[in-house]
Amino acid sequence: MLTTKSSAWIADLDAVRSDSLLKLIALASADKRPDKIDVGVGVYRDGLGRTPVMRAVKAAEKKLWEAQDSKAYLGSRGDVLFPELLKPIVLGPNATDERIVGLQTPGGCGALRLGFQLVQRANPSARVLVGLPTWPNHVPIVSGCGLEIAEYPYYDRTARKVRFEAMMAAIGAAKAGDVVLLHGCCHNPTGADLDAGQWAEVTRAVAERGLIPFVDFAYQGLGRGLDHDAAGLWGILEACDEVLVSQSCDKNFGVYRDRVGCLFLKTASKPASDNALGHVLQIAREMWSMPPDHGGAVVRTVLQDPGLTAAWRSELDEMRDRILRIRERLASADPNLAFIRDQMGMFSMLPVTPEQVLELREKHGIYMADSGRFNVLGMADDAVDRFVATVAEVVGG
Ligand code: LMR
Repeated sequence: MLTTKSSAWIADLDAVRSDSLLKLIALASADKRPDKIDVGVGVYRDGLGRTPVMRAVKAAEKKLWEAQDSKAYLGSRGDVLFPELLKPIVLGPNATDERIVGLQTPGGCGALRLGFQLVQRANPSARVLVGLPTWPNHVPIVSGCGLEIAEYPYYDRTARKVRFEAMMAAIGAAKAGDVVLLHGCCHNPTGADLDAGQWAEVTRAVAERGLIPFVDFAYQGLGRGLDHDAAGLWGILEACDEVLVSQSCDKNFGVYRDRVGCLFLKTASKPASDNALGHVLQIAREMWSMPPDHGGAVVRTVLQDPGLTAAWRSELDEMRDRILRIRERLASADPNLAFIRDQMGMFSMLPVTPEQVLELREKHGIYMADSGRFNVLGMADDAVDRFVATVAEVVGG
């Protein structure tokens, strides 16, 4: 009989702290109350509370299904046309800058991981300045790459505004080569974006101090419009020699589960960027070998077809109009929610305690993140009044 030695190193692992947003998705979908309100995860919902596949995406999928005659490997760079077609939208006037190279990644999350792995390879002693609060997965990704985190204050939940002076003081104390993680638009989790003047000041400080901006750009088009939302990023790309951009199509093409994103990187010269791309491809090969193709091919199919591109743009406008309408409705329903009117994108943050978040969830079936972040369009039109009334009852004035 075969005897085996028992080595219990897998069984002995510490208990894991599950990701707060993924846990929330599971809790909300397990709740069978018909009037539950799920404003947890960041997905677009229409007036009836559904997350439909965008019409332009559906049409592109049909076209792709008819045209695609092979599923042979494409390589670590993925679909090479896909980032090229995105460049004019994402990079604007910088789209033709040959020092900027891009490649397909599994979602914005894959682009973040790849970019920070590159930082770790190039300069393992770089610190990464991360705003507080930020998307809950930023810190695990950065620390997972073995990089040191230095937090900077970003948002004052009580005053409901950006802590700009404190942010600038932290940037002013960073050393050359440190990385500053910035949200391109529609700040997640607060909805509080930098204004044009603040972007200009951040850009100047980052360029002057030789810091490397890493712009997480996952919500383009869901704030005030594709170009407006990209203005801060475009300024950064013009002013700085080294920039990393993690881009995501998950939200603005509604292809969440297909995981569709790009990493763009800029260095001071084309040969240096090509060399950095070689490193990035090697790292990608080690992590996921090649990105999944379908979502990138669908977005490419939309962007190759002027009719589908126009249809996508107009659907994106409809999505953004709904965000603005719901923001206006919430803001005018209760003076305590007035701050929501001027914020951007899917999220805003309520000044709630963890106990109040729990009460909203357990007693009233309203699911929001532990931080008080909620997806302003997570609710159907007919749920808005109950949301406002229940938040007022639980949170008070
Ligand atoms: C969110 O912030 O809700 C989304 O970006 C989903 C995620 O991956 O966390």
